[in-house]
Amino acid sequence: MDEIKSKIDVLGTKYIENYASMKKIINELESYFEVSRQEGSKEQIKRTRKRNKLLAREKIDLLLDDNKPFIELMSLAGLKHEGGFGAGGTTVVVLGYVSGVLCLINANVATRKAGAIDYATSLKNLRLSQIASENKLLTINLVESGGANLPDQDRVFNNYGKFFMEMSQRSKQGIPSISVVFGNATAGGAYVPGMSDYTIMQKNNAKVFLAGPPLVKMATNEDANDEELGGAFMHSSISGVSDFLADDEKHAIKIARDLVSKIKKPKISQYEKEALSPRFVDDEILGIIPSNLKKPFDIRELIMRFIDSSEYTEFKENYGKTMLCCWAKINGYPIGIIANNGVIFIESARKATHFIQLANKSNTPLLFIHNTTGFMVGKKHEQNGMINSGSQLIHAVAGSTVPHISLQVGNSYGAGNYAMCGRSFNPRFLFSYPNAKSGVMGADQLAGVMEIVKRKSAMSLNKVIDENLLLEEKKKLAEQADKKASIWHTTSEVWDDGVIDPRDTRKYLSLALSAVYSSEIKGTDSFGVFRM
Ligand code: COA
Repeated sequence: MDEIKSKIDVLGTKYIENYASMKKIINELESYFEVSRQEGSKEQIKRTRKRNKLLAREKIDLLLDDNKPFIELMSLAGLKHEGGFGAGGTTVVVLGYVSGVLCLINANVATRKAGAIDYATSLKNLRLSQIASENKLLTINLVESGGANLPDQDRVFNNYGKFFMEMSQRSKQGIPSISVVFGNATAGGAYVPGMSDYTIMQKNNAKVFLAGPPLVKMATNEDANDEELGGAFMHSSISGVSDFLADDEKHAIKIARDLVSKIKKPKISQYEKEALSPRFVDDEILGIIPSNLKKPFDIRELIMRFIDSSEYTEFKENYGKTMLCCWAKINGYPIGIIANNGVIFIESARKATHFIQLANKSNTPLLFIHNTTGFMVGKKHEQNGMINSGSQLIHAVAGSTVPHISLQVGNSYGAGNYAMCGRSFNPRFLFSYPNAKSGVMGADQLAGVMEIVKRKSAMSLNKVIDENLLLEEKKKLAEQADKKASIWHTTSEVWDDGVIDPRDTRKYLSLALSAVYSSEIKGTDSFGVFRM
């Protein structure tokens, strides 16, 4: 075990500058969190209070165990979507403990557009479903939604279908879903309780029907009221859609907690009992990462601020130095860490490939920490087979069957993002720092490459270049690429499971590890063909 001594000078100008710059981005992040936490307009919230109903996060608070950690996921989904319902959409997704069991909670925000499902919310639901399936987590849906956001129906339709399909597959595998219905669940929305293994409905409030009174009148000329078509009492005594009838919201949540305690045994983690705190203050993380990501920093300084006892065992310390590979523990859970310490060279890729094979042999989950602009380019590196080594690493990441968690702390560009288990390589969880950037390549490089391509093309066609136009196009392209690589855009598209305050790294990783360790971890020795 190496216990490294920090070389960070907390009184130095570099640290102070970095800290100030990261703090500024965190303030921006906080302002977006505030928007996301706003559960609808003042009028809608007032109306809900008048109806004597709880808000989504208040229900979650009652459902969760006291004094146990929890994290909210994808809270900025839809942040940059035009025509959507704003940051976070109309659902709150939380990973936390209910009756001692780690669960995923999916709570409709009924005070935002009646909880109608906009595109961002459908992306959140899909991702929640994937997290539940891969980590075998019980899901609890707190239902009160006006169904699909009708103007968005084309973009929501298939995502929602997939959500139902995966719910069914989980049920088949014995991974239950519970629905607690507090209000409307109309049309497609009625299948959330319908497809759940267990359904609880609140008396006088739950309305679960395929079509409400006006539509039924239009379709069949039948006169029927809400209760006859979909009331909690009717579903609990006549149709059988409901398994438990609750008197009010608090009673419904109590039934859900009791149910969880009956169908799942809480796992007391032996690992967590042995957890040790880091020896350094997490707040110092803010002063470590340079505001200008072109400036290098030692990734070890970051790691030692969230791993147990700040101790790790480094693998091949003096080989492929731009890729740090080490074993450590986070909240007692053993983990292999693969972290960028610069551009990926041939040796760095080989070292990480070797390390992934070892993690699979020892059934150890892997944490990928991204801060790279990609693989090293240039004549020497191409001739030495950079593509072969990079492909080996990508094969290793794609083929590895131990759980992967990704953390983007800076740049994550090009094939470097793939090799570090970016979104397209299906990490179980992916979190980003608010300064992170991701895309095919950096904005300036992308605009510069386009300029060269355009010049070459014009030359081969004997065309005269309009220099002013080209300059303007280049500027526009760089601006657009920068915007699209920004974390606010990528998190809006649910490319990650949440942008986090770097000081919360240990908390997020601990819960993610608790989730991945709650089922069997099994590595593989079968990978795609390693081109030599
Ligand atoms: N799509 C888009 N917007 C919707 C919506 C939907 N499915 N359901 C509700 N909304 C919007 C309303 O237009 C309103 O928007 P506004 O604040 O900009 O005016 C807002 O959500 C609140 O709706 P409101 O009807 O005032 O809330 P309520 O609590 O009194 O009633 C419902 C809630 C769900 C009973 C009612 O909105 C409703 O019947 N919605 C349609 C349900 C449906 O048939 N869905 C089928 C889709 S699969």
